[in-house]
Parts: sequence; structure tokens; C-alpha cells
Amino acid sequence: MLRVVVCVSGGGTNLQAIIDGIARGAIFHTEIVRVVCNNPGVRALERAKEAGIESVCVSPKDYGDREQFEAALIRSVDEAAPDLIVLAGFMVKVPEGLIKKYEHRIINVHPSLIPAFCGTGYYGLRVHEAVLARGVKITGATVHFVDDGMDTGPIIMQKAVEVHEDDTPETLQKRVMQEAEWVILPWCINLIAAGQVKVENGRVTVTE
Ligand code: GAR
Repeated sequence: MLRVVVCVSGGGTNLQAIIDGIARGAIFHTEIVRVVCNNPGVRALERAKEAGIESVCVSPKDYGDREQFEAALIRSVDEAAPDLIVLAGFMVKVPEGLIKKYEHRIINVHPSLIPAFCGTGYYGLRVHEAVLARGVKITGATVHFVDDGMDTGPIIMQKAVEVHEDDTPETLQKRVMQEAEWVILPWCINLIAAGQVKVENGRVTVTE
């Protein structure tokens, strides 16, 4: 069994896609052992509860400084002894200590085709606003390993999505989630659980 901790901040639709993927047998040999959230009262926490998954809320507001918050965050992950940490809409800069400890064991889903529309300031709806402002015709989503940069780690999988002329940031976000994120994130977790994902020299290969 691959023990997975899922880190969330808001709606939790990607968390739901993982929960559903496990339930319908699209993700094998995988168990979500804990959901870690930095925002109290968000929908993602309800989704965890509905699925009977233990959740922990670690809010920066409850700690004196960033260092204490990061230490609590790392503790809440460590306690669950995960094999894999999935950042599913987690809007927190991941503590360096966590990245070092879990090298090639943290993955993130990003709502664009990296290296376009990623890095500092590109998250959530802002990504789709920037895509529309630039007028690109194709966007998509990326699942990648997390390294010490911002959206710079080895890419595992990407899926393209068409931009429509009448799109708003909201309609585009929905299409990118439905057609790409909710498809490739569960798929990547399943590949990792099956031991089919290797990282060599900063590049990912998926073996048969
Ligand atoms: C998703 O679109 C995810 O790709 C994005 O936030 C949204 C969270 O939605 N993540 C980032 O922008 C990270 N840089 P969700 O809470 O419904 O899964």
C-alpha cells in the first residue's frame, strides 16, 4: 500500500478526484492516510470527513512565526509516515526541510503547461487570467515532482486543453480541471504506486 498524505487549501476537487479514483479502482494499492490543510473551514476538509479520512488543519494564524508554522506542518506530515505527499491545490510555499526529507516523494498539480504560466504569483484562478490575457490557444495541466524551486521540479505528466474564445477565467479553470487535472493527477499516483515512475538526471521516465 502506498501511504499518501494529501495537502490542500481550498475547494479540494483534486482531493475528491483522488478519493474517487481509489474508490472506483482506477488507483491501485493506495491509501490516503491523512489530509493536511492550512485553512480552517474549507470544502476540502468536508470532503475528507465525508470520505472518512483523518484531517489536520495547520493554520499559520495559530503560530507565532513562519518557523513555528513550518515545523508544525512538517510534524503533521511526518506523523502520518507517508510514502508520497500530494499537493492538491496547496497554496503554501513548501518548507525546505520537507522538500529535502521527501526528495522525489512530493508531487504537485499545476493548472498550466509548465514552463508556461508558472512560478511566483501563478496559482489558482490567476493562472487562467494570465492565459486569457496572453491569448494562447492551448493550455492544460502538469503534474511534477516538487524541488526547491517554484514549479521547477521534474515533470511527470502533462495534458493539453483548448482555450475557447468566449472563456472566462472560471470557465477555463473548470475545463482544465475536468479534462486535465482530475485525469492526470490520479493517473500519476497510480503509476507511482505501481513503481513505474523513475527520476534520473532531473527527468522522469515511466516504465511499462
Ligand atoms: C487547482 O486548479 C490546482 O491545480 C491549483 O489550484 C486549484 C485547486 O483546486 N493549484 C495551483 O495553482 C498550485 N500552483 P482544488 O482545491 O479544487 O483542487
